[in-house]
Amino acid sequence: MNRKYRKTVIAGNWKMNKTPTETKEFMTAFKAMLPKGRWCDIALCVPAVCIPAAVRAMRETRVGIGAENCNANASGAYTGEIATNMLVDAGCKYVIIGHSERRAMGETDADVNAKVLAALEAGLIPILCCGESLEQRELGITEEFITMQIKCALAGVDEARIRKVVIAYEPIWAFGTGRTATPEQAEDVCESIRSVIRKLYGSKIARATSILYGGSMNEKNAYDLLAQPDIDGGLIGGASLVPEKFLQIVEAANQPTA
Ligand code: PGA
Repeated sequence: MNRKYRKTVIAGNWKMNKTPTETKEFMTAFKAMLPKGRWCDIALCVPAVCIPAAVRAMRETRVGIGAENCNANASGAYTGEIATNMLVDAGCKYVIIGHSERRAMGETDADVNAKVLAALEAGLIPILCCGESLEQRELGITEEFITMQIKCALAGVDEARIRKVVIAYEPIWAFGTGRTATPEQAEDVCESIRSVIRKLYGSKIARATSILYGGSMNEKNAYDLLAQPDIDGGLIGGASLVPEKFLQIVEAANQPTA
């Protein structure tokens, strides 16, 4: 982390977990534990039907609610889809885009790019995900693959808007497997993502961009991951479902930084 130049963001990704009733229970418990200090931004990205309960519970707190996906079109015949202006109207501040679980369902780099542009247009903060598979890592093409994902996702995003984008590096092989990337492995890739941003937008913007790590981040490994200079927070799945665990990750972000 480097709090001097950029925000630290601790974001939960609930995936397909919790009902609206359970959301209310979580939020009530988490709200009661929220630390007073403001050393990081806190986001909780929840299933679409849980957004109203989450927004209601977290009104007047510092926790921003987010969605886990969006559609790039403004409106129309897209049965089952949700547009960015709907998310804004429902009270969302963030939206996860390009999660590998969605890419595995057929989302392409072009789709991800269109969603990033639509989210920015609507005033949402996109949490843009990238990450390599085990096969790609073993082939030694992690850096090339991630560079391509980032360049595709940010096509047409201008200098004024890139400042709103949060990037999350999530190696697919480290998901829900308990197999976290080591802090050094995660730092290497986050550093190379920052250098892609530097080449595209210059060093000032690269220095101000928050780059998160995701993949089996939990209350035990968060401190060491967040101690890395280029890891500015986390995108947390499993450990964001339990208020006490998520809180401990938020607290791990309260450590001295460069
Ligand atoms: P995990 O999920 O923390 O459960 O590995 C992370 C994510 O998919 O965003």
